Amino acid sequence: MKKLLMIPLIAAAISACVQQPEPLRVAEIKPGEYEPKEWGKNFPLEYADWEATANPTPAGKSKYKKGWDTDGKIYDKLSEFPYMALLFNGWGFGIEYNEPRGHMHMLTDVLEVDSSRRKAGGVCLTCKTPYAQELQEKYGKDYFSKPFAEVHALIPKNHQKLGAACIHCHDPKDMALKIHNEFTLVKALKSMGVDTSRLSTQDLRTLVCAQCHVTYVVQKDKDMKSQNVFFPWKNSKAGRISIEDIIKTIKSDPSHLEWTQAVTGFKLGFLRHPEYELFSNDSTHWQAGLACADCHMPYVRSGAYKISDHRVMSPLKKDMKACIQCHPEGAQWLKARVLSTQDRAASLMLRAGYGTATAAKLFEKTHAAQKAGKNIDQALYAKAKDYYEEAFYRTAFIGAENSTGFHNPAETLRVLGDAVSYAGKSEALLRQALAQAGVSVPAKIDLELQKYLKDRGERKLNFDKTVEFKDSFGNQEKL
Ligand code: HEC
Ligand code: HEC
Ligand code: HEC
Ligand code: HEC
Repeated sequence: MKKLLMIPLIAAAISACVQQPEPLRVAEIKPGEYEPKEWGKNFPLEYADWEATANPTPAGKSKYKKGWDTDGKIYDKLSEFPYMALLFNGWGFGIEYNEPRGHMHMLTDVLEVDSSRRKAGGVCLTCKTPYAQELQEKYGKDYFSKPFAEVHALIPKNHQKLGAACIHCHDPKDMALKIHNEFTLVKALKSMGVDTSRLSTQDLRTLVCAQCHVTYVVQKDKDMKSQNVFFPWKNSKAGRISIEDIIKTIKSDPSHLEWTQAVTGFKLGFLRHPEYELFSNDSTHWQAGLACADCHMPYVRSGAYKISDHRVMSPLKKDMKACIQCHPEGAQWLKARVLSTQDRAASLMLRAGYGTATAAKLFEKTHAAQKAGKNIDQALYAKAKDYYEEAFYRTAFIGAENSTGFHNPAETLRVLGDAVSYAGKSEALLRQALAQAGVSVPAKIDLELQKYLKDRGERKLNFDKTVEFKDSFGNQEKL
């Protein structure tokens, strides 16, 4: 897929300073073995790290990805970025949208999240259980469309809480890395013309993660029942999946519009955790040949052995150990680089988010004016709607991406800059249309954020009513 000039050198340098590999297997692992304990008999060190993803993480070491703290707090995006509560009002994401936490929780978190988040049906299991591939093969369309609880009950009892398992990433035959979810990732790679029989280990050190850390579309029939799930990459090239191409795919068919935004009444698509897409779109680290595992599963010493750290988490929470293997600058310097990148991204996220929310509120006013019999210029309206959607998808894309800009700082700022510009154009056109219709609009639009934040029912984890909508550069008034 891409040229890897540096990696052999880097890998050799890393191998040189760690010790011998774990001794090989003591028992045969059956083909199709889902039970990690069986794999763990051969590889107790990887198993122990993998199991440790159940534990809380030291949130204080990270600024934007606190996740699940050792003090028991769970952090949520709607509290951190309140404009999201307004923009996503109308379905589950506007009620509960938590920051990610350890892999061991992925399936239980779906079971425990506000039930509106499982409404799409069995399809929600796609990147939460190792059984998804098999269930989809066996049950076809029913796997996607049947109620979540019904499809979940088809998983063997002892594995109804099992998330990312060894078999998601490894071939039991020889422990080589292998993509398990053929019906999503392999299909999506093929849609871009990738020869999936010729992937290198370094490709796979990213692609095993790209089974889940990607955006996807849940395709709906006319009754809004789920029909399929796919990754919207067909207009792109591998290594250059852009938000523009994704929006083009989403907009190409009404079956891709999954929900209705309450404030505007528009049917829209949605964006989820596009870590793979953002990272692989020409970031410096991607061009230097890095994979997800280089930063999130670095080689570590465990007793006398050298293993890949299977306690997958933020590098900040591990004191930048992954980075230091390549960068000699030291943990403090590296952490400061990450935070300064993230601060800038978060600042522009707020600007884009509040800009998009302002346009959304103006659509609400426009619709009210139309209802009251005012004559709104349809050409201006249509253009404003078009710009609004462009802003919305870009804002949602970066908001859902979990590195707060670090995975690709330049692309993050580009996408958000475009979102700010589209939101501003949409606002200007709506103001013009409303003025022409004789409706007066105040200079500052009241976003009524408290209303949307309060609408979230009882599960307001970490919600603080006094939360201030200010970025780390102090840009509060201007938002
Ligand atoms: C089967 C799907 C799946 C695969 C494969 C997968 N992830 Fe995840 N990952 C998730 C989900 C879902 C969450 C959020 C879990 C939650 O919050 O309950 C998550 C969370 C994370 C987190 C946050 C952990 C924390 O402590 O907050 C990191 C980092 C991460 N994944 C990186 C990776 C990397 C790197 C890979 C590949 C080596 C990978 N993931 C493979 C689904 C997956
Ligand atoms: C060059 C190092 C690097 C690479 C390569 C990398 N990441 Fe990250 N990743 C980071 C950093 C740094 C953060 C921010 C962590 C924080 O703020 O605590 C992060 C954050 C994340 C998070 C959120 C973590 C959390 O605690 O919530 C996920 C999930 C994630 N990355 C997945 C991936 C995936 C999937 C890939 C490959 C497509 C990848 N990363 C590639 C460095 C990297
Ligand atoms: C999310 C994907 C993922 C999951 C789940 C996963 N691994 Fe791995 N594993 C990797 C990656 C990536 C490597 C590094 C492979 C490489 O560089 O060749 C690796 C390497 C290994 C190796 C080779 C030695 C080493 O540590 O580098 C063993 C053995 C291993 N894993 C065992 C396990 C076991 C046992 C489980 C389940 C308890 C498991 N893995 C779950 C991604 C995963
Ligand atoms: C496998 C080696 C490797 C690892 C691991 C790695 N980097 Fe890098 N990093 C590079 C290379 C190569 C470059 C390209 C520029 C250069 O040659 O220094 C780079 C560039 C950078 C840059 C400047 C470019 C930019 O995107 O802003 C920063 C900052 C950076 N890395 C921080 C980190 C942090 C933080 C981590 C850990 C989360 C990390 N790196 C992990 C190899 C690595």
